[in-house]
Amino acid sequence: DVAAYFGRELLGWYDLVKRVLPWRQNRDPYRVWVSEIMLQQTRVDTVIPYYERFMARFPTVQSLAEAPEEDVLKHWEGLGYYSRARNLQAGAREVVAQYRGIVPDDATAVASLKGVGPYTAGAIMSIAFNRPEPAVDGNVMRVLSRFWELEDDIAKPATRVRIEKLARSIIPEGRAGDFNQALMELGALVCTPKSPGCLTCPVMQHCAGRLAGKELVLPIKTKA
Ligand code: ADE
Repeated sequence: DVAAYFGRELLGWYDLVKRVLPWRQNRDPYRVWVSEIMLQQTRVDTVIPYYERFMARFPTVQSLAEAPEEDVLKHWEGLGYYSRARNLQAGAREVVAQYRGIVPDDATAVASLKGVGPYTAGAIMSIAFNRPEPAVDGNVMRVLSRFWELEDDIAKPATRVRIEKLARSIIPEGRAGDFNQALMELGALVCTPKSPGCLTCPVMQHCAGRLAGKELVLPIKTKA
């Protein structure tokens, strides 16, 4: 069964090579949330020092909710896309007002927080709560398009929906958070856009894209 193979090999690889990253220290949902917002448009290496400073200054949902906005923006300086910081604080204020400062273990509630889209909701639910939700970003779409040789245009919303369904269906039992992070890790370290490291890839043996010689043409993306 190819899905079982994919999950087993990917998780085995991840357990061996996963990077030690500050947001992997524990499963605090607030820490996961902040990290995923920062990582949306910014590379891991850039995020790390910002993340450390931000978490030192705003260690809890409550502390972020109560802070002056200018203080939050100051800690975001250099990361860009400042609406992310404003939305994150608005989300923290919602969690304080509606959930007594505790990020709810509820996919619908998390997905309705300000600034939290389907990707971030899936990341929080899976990484913090180990719920079997997909967390599909551009990297994950690339990995899955290649492995399953999906030729749909990833610029189309319907393709994301299809890939989210696929991603949900292949989550190994009890390991949603690790599986989603392993997909991200594979996309970041091995299954990269321009020079994928197929020879070191844990799932090369059954990668349909690679077997078809299409690893460099997948994923298909029409508009920029
Ligand atoms: N990119 C997005 N989320 C990530 C995570 N949790 N770890 C590493 N890279 C990521």
